[in-house]
Amino acid sequence: MVKKKKGEYKIVGKVAIYPGSFDPITYGHIDVVERALEIFDKVIIAIAENEEKRPLFSVEERLQMVKTIFKDTPNVIVDSFKGLLVDYVAKTNAKVSLRGLRATSDFEYEFHMASMNRSLNTHLDTLFMMTSKDYFFVSSRTIKEVARLGGGVEGLVPDLVVRRLKEKFKLPVAKKKHIGWDD
Ligand code: PNS
Repeated sequence: MVKKKKGEYKIVGKVAIYPGSFDPITYGHIDVVERALEIFDKVIIAIAENEEKRPLFSVEERLQMVKTIFKDTPNVIVDSFKGLLVDYVAKTNAKVSLRGLRATSDFEYEFHMASMNRSLNTHLDTLFMMTSKDYFFVSSRTIKEVARLGGGVEGLVPDLVVRRLKEKFKLPVAKKKHIGWDD
């Protein structure tokens, strides 16, 4: 990574930005990053400091979790941003914003966001990756709800995230992996 002006950097190779709240990061997100690394030389995970969404985890807590999870993956850069995504992207040489799509219900929101970003910056394309079948039902929102109510989220988020959720909710999380179709 080559630092340019203050806050600006140029990364060698093909770069994608993966923006999101990551409140908290799930295996669905991690799967998207791993698959994106097959296409791009670097992936920047850009954690939005969106206080209006009343996140469960502070941006520092989210950064710490995501940095720890990708500490052995040098092609992943973990960062946070405030304000417009297009302004953050302009500080890098990324041309692609990466988003995961779980179901058609995600499409409308994602389509509006991608179209707005493209109207703000015509050089920015959004690339959608279908979430793997193992994680199509996993979202940060449902993970938080299940964990808050004492359900098991092991296998859907990394162990570190399970521990952080337990700490946040001061609740024991069930030992069972998660409730499958046959339970
Ligand atoms: O994980 P999320 O909450 O679906 O991610 C949404 C996110 C953070 C990618 C989006 O809200 C965003 O880009 N926020 C930054 C503000 C912005 O650029 N808004 C204009 C896009 S419509």
